[in-house]
Amino acid sequence: MYPTLHLLKHSLAENAIRVLRDKDSSPEQFRGAILRLTTLLTLDATRELPLKQVEVQTPIQATFCGQLNCRVGIVPILRAGLSMVDPLLTMLPEAEVWHLGYYRDEETLKPVTYYDKLPPNAPVDVAYVLDPMLATGGSACAALENLKKWGVPEVHFLGILAAPEGIEKVATAFPDVPMHICAMDEKLNDQGYIVPGLGDAGDRAFNAAAV
Ligand code: PRP
Ligand code: URA
Repeated sequence: MYPTLHLLKHSLAENAIRVLRDKDSSPEQFRGAILRLTTLLTLDATRELPLKQVEVQTPIQATFCGQLNCRVGIVPILRAGLSMVDPLLTMLPEAEVWHLGYYRDEETLKPVTYYDKLPPNAPVDVAYVLDPMLATGGSACAALENLKKWGVPEVHFLGILAAPEGIEKVATAFPDVPMHICAMDEKLNDQGYIVPGLGDAGDRAFNAAAV
């Protein structure tokens, strides 16, 4: 469909997505499913990170081993992207975490920036933008634009559910950004929610739905 779209195909992913969609899943179950899905996405997205060969002395003899050879940035979009950070930090313990805060204006559905402290220089070599929901694509594009402006040469987007509208927007605006997504849903509804979706990811992950 789009050359940059990497759709995860895995039985464990389908099983975890069922937990996310179920409105009766608890916040703990919801976070657990995001964590497992992000672990699967991470394996796919980091497969070709550059390595250099370094000499290591085993208890038996010297040998050459691969060592990661790049500065990696993990870039969660607040709030919901925070729920995806831990699996990446587990796999990339030396990575830097750079937060970006956007909320969607309920009327226009456009992202409004409320936290952005990327430094003016010394960009990371590879950045992973994290957000479970790619709906209109506005928030993802704002983050990707920001990272391009910072000068990051390689940027990936990791998301759990995506609407066709969001995928098209990111693929068109950023044809060099791989999108690693667990599932593509049918459409957006009039309020800009993904259908069938999972509701508000930030509220559900952080047990913060209005009562
Ligand atoms: C959600 C989601 C994305 C955005 C996706 O965040 O986590 O950031 O909406 O929609 P878009 O593709 O149309 O931009 P929201 O703005 O609700 O903020 P929150 O994470 O604090 O709930
Ligand atoms: N943000 C969410 O949390 N859910 C949606 O369905 C769309 C945007």
